[in-house]
Amino acid sequence: MAPSILAADFGALAQAVREIDAETDWLHVDVMDGHFVPNVSIGPPVVRSLRPYSTRFFDCHLMMSEPGRYLEAFVRAGADGCTVHVEVGSTATLIDEAKSLGLRIGLAANPDTPFRQVAPFLGDVDLLLLMTVFPGFGGQNFIGDVMDKVSEARREIDANDLDLDLEVDGGIDATTAPIAVRAGANVLVAGSAIFGAASPRDAARSLREAALANR
Ligand code: DX5
Ligand code: ZN
Repeated sequence: MAPSILAADFGALAQAVREIDAETDWLHVDVMDGHFVPNVSIGPPVVRSLRPYSTRFFDCHLMMSEPGRYLEAFVRAGADGCTVHVEVGSTATLIDEAKSLGLRIGLAANPDTPFRQVAPFLGDVDLLLLMTVFPGFGGQNFIGDVMDKVSEARREIDANDLDLDLEVDGGIDATTAPIAVRAGANVLVAGSAIFGAASPRDAARSLREAALANR
């Protein structure tokens, strides 16, 4: 479970992070640069400010055209992993840079990016993030067509015995989480379904139960 703080109240982020802590494995931090995506969110200073409030893995999703310029700032701020988009290019260089900084590195693909674009890098990354919405905004509908790509990735990971997490992000709720898990995902990002609920902690617990029950 990787709750996305994008859907939390930015005026009370520390409280949101603390409240969700018991039901969180990772904390998903959505970073938007207003260029790769048509929206602006948060960056390293917020990661730094939240770091004392959580011991969880900080999973930073860099929706940025030039993520390489900021990797070091994220490490210094307390990020554990950074995920860059394959669509921005320079993937091999970004992977090397992230590794040299001691980061866990993820590679993300938009819903319309084919599996063959990420396939060559699977042996070199720690995580593959397959977007189930077009990045930029929370609260969008899950794109079920992406499940074919999730299954393809799962087959490839298992066939080659790769040590890789397979994460889905966008429109994940108690209905879609089991679908993604059945297709092969093992990390679920959820924003609205958790922080939009009256009790984010209960919502996260229910989401996990729904995902596990329907495997
Ligand atoms: C979308 C972000 C997602 C988003 C998910 O650009 O990458 O992480 O916060 O939000 P929900 O769960 O509301 O679709
Ligand atoms: Zn995200």
